Amino acid sequence: MPHPKTTEEMMAAAGPIERNLSLPLIQITEAAAVASAYQVGKGDRKYADHVAVEAMRRVLNHIDMKGTVKIGEGERDEAPMLFIGEEVGTGNGPVVEIAVDPLEGTNLAADDVNGSVAVMSMAEKDGIFYGPDIYFDKIVVGPKVVKYEKESKTGEKISLDAPILQNLTIVSKALGKKIEDLVVVVLDRDRHKNIVRDVRAAGARVRLIPDGDLLPGVMTCFEDSGVDMVMGAGGSGEAVLTASALKGLGGKITGRLVLPSVANEKTEDEILKELAEKLPRLVKMGISENDIHKIRETNDLVPGKDVIFAATAVTDGPFMKGTKLLGGGDACMTSILVGSSGVVRVTQSVYVKDKENKSFSV
Ligand code: FBP
Repeated sequence: MPHPKTTEEMMAAAGPIERNLSLPLIQITEAAAVASAYQVGKGDRKYADHVAVEAMRRVLNHIDMKGTVKIGEGERDEAPMLFIGEEVGTGNGPVVEIAVDPLEGTNLAADDVNGSVAVMSMAEKDGIFYGPDIYFDKIVVGPKVVKYEKESKTGEKISLDAPILQNLTIVSKALGKKIEDLVVVVLDRDRHKNIVRDVRAAGARVRLIPDGDLLPGVMTCFEDSGVDMVMGAGGSGEAVLTASALKGLGGKITGRLVLPSVANEKTEDEILKELAEKLPRLVKMGISENDIHKIRETNDLVPGKDVIFAATAVTDGPFMKGTKLLGGGDACMTSILVGSSGVVRVTQSVYVKDKENKSFSV
């Protein structure tokens, strides 16, 4: 189907979830961002996350929908709220599946470092992967790379199993940039030492980040963001949320699930122990032992067609100023909202509690 061209046609291309739940979605991520903003810099990552979860849950339950959490804070016995399978919303309205990370980058928020965000995505029934809480080893690239792959006569494709130089060569040709100018974002973890070595050996640059690999994946879709590629193993929930944004932005994620003990090169015993612990849950989710390592791409992680993604900045970050507390309960914040129709909004909101004593400027 050709891409719709006019604003009107694009609006018509939006499904019911995008049309009706986009504003509520932003309100949910904003509520979480305000709650955690009060905890920024206070050094307590768990509490900062906890208040974000509570705030999201409160707002969610005012929204007319029959929602089910597919990616959440953990299993029912581990998480009191927003656990996988929890039903949220008023119960009236559309059936919606939810992926949520109330505070992505808990350490970043606790230490007031750039890049923490409150994130949620929604899709229709069976629109979001029922994913286990393990890692997803991945590569994320933007829409120009996707176009290049589609047009390649020789079937060139980014692949987790290909040598890093080969993947960088594809990205370099797709973006029309020299390999030396490419920036690859990688979480600063021991498990990524070979990626860092090979990217640098190929001549490209590595941006090591302490936490928060969801937003850099989204940034690959913005030409002037300075991020050309994201590589490495991070949370599978983060990968699903990244995929939700990529659906609207045209980028791509490719990778496979991996047990943290495997990714972090633990001993054989520790790996077997983790497998024994997690396998029953994986099987319940429809993922057999053989199936774990299957390559999964954007549409496997988010098969939905009517998908919306929102992230509100808690601390400052790319495209967004962090949530600022303005005194007297007033707050302002920036969010990005992406719909699968292709409409992308970067919004600024101000919550004014005391209208007679406004203390903000936008
Ligand atoms: P939290 O928000 O749960 O603190 O996660 C931050 C994060 O850095 C993610 O962005 C990333 O995907 C994951 O943790 C990596 O996990 P690990 O710290 O175990 O390497």
